[in-house]
Amino acid sequence: MFKKAFCLALAGAIAGAIAGASSALAWGDNGHAAVGLLMQRLVNPEVRSTLEQLLNNDSSVNGSFALAGSWADHIKSNSSYNWANSLHYVGLTGTTPDTCTAYVPSQCADDRCVITGIANYTERAVAQAPEADRQEAVKFLLHFLGDIAQPLHATVVELGGNGNICYWEGEETNLHYVWDISIIDKTINGDFDGYVNQLEYDIVKGKYASSTASWVSCFGKENASLASCVVEWINEANQFDCNYIFPTYYAAEKRDDLELSSKYYADNAENVNRFVARAGVRTAHYFNVLFKDAC
Ligand SMILES: *[C@@H]1O[C@H](CO)[C@@H](O)[C@H](O)[C@H]1NC(C)=O
Ligand SMILES: *[C@@H]1O[C@H](CO)[C@@H](O)[C@H](O)[C@H]1NC(C)=O
Ligand SMILES: *[C@@H]1O[C@H](CO)[C@@H](O)[C@H](O)[C@H]1NC(C)=O
Ligand SMILES: *[C@@H]1O[C@H](CO)[C@@H](O)[C@H](O)[C@H]1NC(C)=O
Ligand SMILES: *[C@@H]1O[C@H](CO)[C@@H](O)[C@H](O)[C@H]1NC(C)=O
Repeated sequence: MFKKAFCLALAGAIAGAIAGASSALAWGDNGHAAVGLLMQRLVNPEVRSTLEQLLNNDSSVNGSFALAGSWADHIKSNSSYNWANSLHYVGLTGTTPDTCTAYVPSQCADDRCVITGIANYTERAVAQAPEADRQEAVKFLLHFLGDIAQPLHATVVELGGNGNICYWEGEETNLHYVWDISIIDKTINGDFDGYVNQLEYDIVKGKYASSTASWVSCFGKENASLASCVVEWINEANQFDCNYIFPTYYAAEKRDDLELSSKYYADNAENVNRFVARAGVRTAHYFNVLFKDAC
């Protein structure tokens, strides 16, 4: 449907300075911003330069990959973007290992879910199309690849955990919010830049360095495609919901132990760090594969 963009015309200019991320950014803002910055740092230099030129000229982000990562959430307050709301998640099912479902297209309601959203903007990011359309595509793609790393974006159960009431430092909240925002913000503790730098170090030299090849092993499989890897990652996310998030939630509910900011936080901070790091690595690899053919 779309022709590949002629990226050589874009390549060559000097890459913009890596934009600093503001720690005022509120997987909410911070998770997506972290995935955006990790992608920028980990992607191949040629692809980075192409993406930087594109986003430097976009006044909604002014070259900030942190803002580009979270942009698709910010536009939710603008009703002219309501059509994009269903593109952030997909409705797999299961709350226990034996009830877990693998993705089938009928779980993508009306063909509008994060799977078709990613496919759509994958095509549009490298299409022969006006710059504004390619900027929009890159921002959506970066965001949706972050969304699928948050396991509760892969399940329809309790609207992705939004219906699972719990507490955080005494305040009522829900499981989706805890996994989107509360855990990550407690870990960041006001130092967003330090958080991203630590994850980058852990990926490149530290505790994740021996795992990164396995995080992108999907691309090496027979007949693998960008689309098949997205489905594999979605299934992996929902497995985590079925094997861990829902069983531990319902057990905690039975014990009347739904204050999640202490022991639950301690048990899961590393899970969230690993998911954010893994999303940065996978997203960088995804953009490498996508733009390698286009440029
Ligand atoms: C940048 O954006 C401006 C205004 O939208 C446009 O005129 C221009 O062609 C764009 N591209 C570059 C490379 O400056
Ligand atoms: C980007 O820069 C322009 C020009 O300085 C400014 O008007 C706009 O508000 C900036 N955008 C963001 C998201 O900060
Ligand atoms: C909402 O989005 C539309 C379409 O991009 C844009 O024209 C409009 O200015 C935006 N409204 C606000 C308040 O940002
Ligand atoms: C594909 O992208 C276009 C342009 O943003 C949008 O109008 C359409 O709703 C998108 N469809 C899906 C499934 O993402
Ligand atoms: C890969 O594609 C070929 C050709 O369609 C098919 O014969 C083969 O079974 C596929 N392999 C896997 C692992 O799906």
